Order: sequence, then C-alpha cells, then structure tokens
Amino acid sequence: MTRIVYVNGEYLPETEAKVSIFDRGFLMADGVYEVTSVLDGKLVDFEGHAVRLERSLSELDMASPVTKDELLAIHRELVAKNGIEEGMVYLQITRGAPGDRDFVFPDPAVTPSTIVLFTQNKPGLADSPAAKTGMKVISVDDIRWGRRDIKTVQLLYPSMGKMMAKKAGCDDAWMVEDGFVTEGTSNNAYIVKGNTIITRQLSNDILHGITRAAVLRFAKEAQMQVEERLFTIDEAKEADEAFVTSATTFVMPVVEIDGAAIGTGKPGSVAARLREIYLEESRKAAI
Ligand code: PDD
Repeated sequence: MTRIVYVNGEYLPETEAKVSIFDRGFLMADGVYEVTSVLDGKLVDFEGHAVRLERSLSELDMASPVTKDELLAIHRELVAKNGIEEGMVYLQITRGAPGDRDFVFPDPAVTPSTIVLFTQNKPGLADSPAAKTGMKVISVDDIRWGRRDIKTVQLLYPSMGKMMAKKAGCDDAWMVEDGFVTEGTSNNAYIVKGNTIITRQLSNDILHGITRAAVLRFAKEAQMQVEERLFTIDEAKEADEAFVTSATTFVMPVVEIDGAAIGTGKPGSVAARLREIYLEESRKAAI
C-alpha cells in the first residue's frame, strides 16, 4: 500500500509529494515540527502537541497555515487513509520557499509557509521489547543552540549524538552542559532516588516534553515525589533507576550510563509503573 501524505492542502501518494528546493526548511532548517503518537488508531495528547506547535511558531514569528481544528482533521484523515493502529504522525511547518536563497525572512504575505504531514506505521510500539531490557546511554557535550524549547528541525547534532552512542555499542546519548544533564537526543531524561523522580526544570535549555508533562502529572497523582532540578552524570550513576520519556518511546528505562549499571542494571519498578500508567491513561484520553 502506498503511503498517503499531506502537502500544502493536498493528500497525495508519497511518490508524488514534492517540496521546492528553495524551501527554507531544506536550505536553513527554518522550520518546526511535532511528533504525535497513535495508539488504537487514535492520537495521543493531540492538544498538547498543537499548543506547543503554536508556541514554536510564534517564537519564530511564523503563522500557522492551518487552524487547530484543521490540523486535527488532517491528522485523523492520514491515520485513517494509512490504516495506522500504532505509530506516529509527523508534522513539519517551514517558512516556505521564497524562490531564492536569502538570510532575510521572506514576507509571509508573499511566501506562504510549507506544511507537510506523514504517518509512520509502528505495530508493537506500546509493547516494545526495549521497555523490558532498558536502554544504554552515553554522555556527550550539549553543543546545541540556546533555544531548545522551540521544536525546530535543526536535528543534526542530536542525530550525531545518536550515532556516537551507536558507535559505542549503546542506544542513545544524554547531553551535558556546564556539568549537568540537559536531556536525551530526542527525549527528556530522569533519574529516580528512593521514591523521588528527578528531572531538569523547564527553561530554554530543554524541550518542554508533552510526555514529560503527562508523566509528571501521573507521578504526582500516584503519590510519587517529583523534584525538578539539575542533576549530573555522577548523580545519575548513583541513582536507583533512570528513564527517558518522549512521544515515540513513552516511558523507557535506562539501565546503563557511560558503562556504569544503574541500580540493579535492570529496568526499575518506578519506570515500569509510570510506563503502565502512561499507556493506560493515554489510551483512555486519545482522540
Ligand atoms: N522528540 N527532548 C527532545 C530534544 C526531543 O526531540 C523530544 C521529542 C523530547 C520529548 O518530547 P515529547 O515528549 O513531546 O515527544 C525531548 C521527538 C519524539 C522526535 O524528534 O522524534
């Protein structure tokens, strides 16, 4: 079955979908994106992703080419057209294709933004084997720009971090700035000490994860303690557990950091419980 994608108002087979070579997303990484997971054929936390998208766009002085209701309808249409039960919807909006390369932003009245959405089918996403074994991470310097709260498509360094991890025989990298963990290459990072979940506080230094917000809310509802503060790789190595969260991994245990086993070296009970609660609540609330 050929995948149907959405480009600037049209639903097309992926082989027919085109974006200009002058698109600023392509030339300058001048664009933002969202990834929304799909469970049981429904969208998880669509509202959270739509609100963050609006914020990313406004921080970059870009207007959305579609309303929130239209965006929801497009997401649903793509999920239906492609028969997605478990997977994700990727959305990207760029500052459009002005027809030449120029550092100056084009006039939005003349150059409309580009909007692209596509689905990725991932059967077994919720029942991921990695959740049972846990992930191994390495630490790398965080040399990204200073506005990591904006979900831009500048993903070269995170991608390099992931490759450094793979080269080291690991699954992912945690980035470190001024001695403290910022976040994973494509997820938020947590450690657990006793009954306390510790994760970096929100600022421009990290992406404000939609999964993070939900997981911290569920943790508090389950009477777990949450501390939003800085932590180091050394503190992480001494923790009882570690885990990451993102729209595509939900809650995923981390069992090793820079070669040191975390806790027992097996996925911990707090991460397992949070994953269970997250999946259960997300399925209930999905639209
Ligand atoms: N990444 N931090 C970074 C740097 C991320 O790229 C992501 C998500 C997160 C988690 O955010 P959320 O819970 O809203 O997915 C944190 C997506 C999944 C991606 O790039 O594929």
